[in-house]
Order: sequence, then C-alpha cells, then structure tokens
Amino acid sequence: MESVQKQYTVLCIVGARPNFMKIAPIMRAMASSSVISPVLLHTGQHYDAEMKHSFFDQLHIPEPDIDLEVGSGSHAEQTAEIMKRFEPVLDELKPAAILVVGDVNSTIACALVAVKKSIAVVHVEAGLRSGDRAMPEEINRVLTDQISDLLFTTEADAIENLTAEGIPPERVHFVGNVMIDTLLYNRERATPAEQVLNEVSSGYGLLTLHRPSNVDDPAVLKRLLEVLVKLSKRLPLVFPVHPRTRQRITNMGFDSLLENSAISLLPPLGYLQMLGLMSDATVVLTDSGGIQEETTALGVPCITLRENTERPITLTQGTNVLAGTDVAAIESAFNDVLEHGGRKGNVPELWDGNAAVRITQIIEAFLEERAVGHN
Ligand code: UD1
Repeated sequence: MESVQKQYTVLCIVGARPNFMKIAPIMRAMASSSVISPVLLHTGQHYDAEMKHSFFDQLHIPEPDIDLEVGSGSHAEQTAEIMKRFEPVLDELKPAAILVVGDVNSTIACALVAVKKSIAVVHVEAGLRSGDRAMPEEINRVLTDQISDLLFTTEADAIENLTAEGIPPERVHFVGNVMIDTLLYNRERATPAEQVLNEVSSGYGLLTLHRPSNVDDPAVLKRLLEVLVKLSKRLPLVFPVHPRTRQRITNMGFDSLLENSAISLLPPLGYLQMLGLMSDATVVLTDSGGIQEETTALGVPCITLRENTERPITLTQGTNVLAGTDVAAIESAFNDVLEHGGRKGNVPELWDGNAAVRITQIIEAFLEERAVGHN
C-alpha cells in the first residue's frame, strides 16, 4: 500500500489469471499519479500458485492489500461469495472508485456491489462482444458495461457495441490495450522457448484450451484432441494445461488419446514463459481471448478454436483466424500456416504500451470533476 495517502483511493480488482496482466500496468501508472492511491484487491477466484503467484512475482504486481479468498464454485456460488465478502471492504475503505478489468466473475460481482453503493465503477476492456450469450463472460461483459461510469475500450468495434446498447458516449474512452502494455513492457524479459522446453526441434505450435464450450462436452473435447493429435504429427504441439482442462481430460478418460502423441503437456505456465513460447511459436492454437490479442501484437499466426470472437480486430487487422471446432476448418487453417505462413497482420491503433497511462489520466480528470460536482 502507498505510504503517503493521496486524494483519491481507487480500489483495483483482480480475480482470475487474465486479470493479472491487465492490472499490472494500471497499478504502475497509478502509483505515479499525484492524486490517486491505488489499493489492490484479489478476490481469490484463481488461487493455485501456478494460476496466481507466478504472475504477481513476474509482473511485479504488488501483493494484494486485500484477499477475499473465495476460491472455486458454481457461477452463482462464486459470484455471490465475492459479493458478500466485497461489501464490508467497500464500507470500510470507501474508495472514490473501483476499477475492474475484463469479463470474469470477479468483474461483475464487484461492479454490482459498488454501483449500488454509489461508488464509481471503472471498466477496463469494455464493449467487447462475442454475440454469444451462452458464454459466461459475455453476460459479465454486457452487465458490467451497463453499470459502469467510465468505460475504456481497446478497439473501435467496442465503441459501436456500447453505443448500440445505449451507453452515453461521454462515458466511453478509446485508450488502447493494457494487455499489450504488459506484453511490450516484458518482451525483452520473456523466457526463451528453449529454456521452457527441454528441446526445441525445428518449430512447434502452442496450444491452449479451457473454455467450457470446448472442454466440458466430451464429444467436442474428443473431436478437438483427435484433430490436434493428428496435426501434431506435422508440427509438434506444446500444451500448457489449465486445471479445469486437466480435470476434464482425466475424468472423461481421454489421457490415452494423448499418450504417444507429439503433444507435450505442461502445467500452466507463468507469464514470461508463455510470452517466450508464444513469440517463438510457428502457430498458436487457442480458445483464449487474450492470446488472440497477444499473437496479433507479436505477429504470430493464431488459429482460434471458437465459433466467434469478441475481439474482431484480431481478424480484420491481426493474425487471427476463426476455425471453430470443425475438423476441416482447423486443418485448413493449419495448412495455410505451414504452407503460406498464415495471415499477416498489423498492430492495431493505440496498442502502443501506453494505455494504462491514458487510463490513469482520464480517471484523475473524472474524479476531480466529480469532486467539484459534489462540492
Ligand atoms: C476463468 C474465467 C475465464 C478466463 C479463465 C482464465 C469466469 C466466468 N471465467 O475461467 O473468463 O478465461 O478464468 O483462466 O470468470 N481451478 C483450479 N485452480 C485455480 C482456479 C481454478 O484448480 O486456481 C479449477 C477449479 O476446478 C475450478 C475450475 O478450475 O472450478 C474453473 O475455475 P473458474 O475460476 O471457475 O473459471 P475458469 O475456467 O478458470
């Protein structure tokens, strides 16, 4: 925590792995602010060392000032537990604003508690829409944006989505991408791929899979694993496995599918290891949201194993291709990479490493204006 109390306390929330790389540059920028004291709260949605500690250490995120230690549960249990434990924190701390990032359960849970206490809600990475309401994150996105006072966007489509949902334009600010702030800041520090892998042959593909739609349905997971095993005969695949996916593979009896394949299973990796592996990969196959953006920023071909994306700029300007879970589409995208190098892209506007600084300046002005209004 800051030793000198500044004018405004902003309570910054993290809960799950993809939040950590987004909060790191924001905490850094706010620490340099002359008027904002950032306080960091971790809900504890992700708690395994591999899902949490390595990120705090590697990204130099300060230890959370508050840890709600909620852990796993059904969506209702997890969201409700965060809300219950968050409320007394707000009552005691009385921050000028809370800041939430992304689209996880911690994002909506904390935003909902704060808005009902008339505490300003700031949402970083607002306006992204997959159009797929079967995705828990889509619900979290739509609802968080509706109750936010300040909304920071990463791409032009997000602004259009917010306008279409009736969000007043003066609340919305296009600032760029904090995830890419972190990527650019850490690029030189990335762990070289050969240090993460015991041996790097002549190229590899990097695979991640964790979306419920891909790993909770045995038929879909089996189909995906079978095509990936087939592809790995042409290019070895490296697969850091999310805890949820690890459980599903074992519980559904699919370990044997992967045995003797050219897919190497690894535990979840730290940020610098993932960045090193992504940078050197021939291709990345993923169902993650953030990785679609990171590969676009790195210029590495990405095949997204989903039917839709909330990050369309990675398709129109970046290196991303949507292949869904259709075997023929995945094989065709993979062939295109091996034969022609995949889609060449550009780095989108304002993905320049300075999004968090812009965000901090806008929050400062917002809080000053609000304070004047309240006097
Ligand atoms: C959450 C986010 C998702 C994000 C993903 C990144 C929501 C709705 N989803 O999904 O948007 O892409 O994080 O990882 O918030 N588990 C552990 N250890 C942990 C955390 C989870 O073993 O530290 C296991 C538990 O069995 C848990 C399961 O993973 O039930 C799922 O965790 P949960 O936080 O519910 O959602 P994720 O699938 O990780």
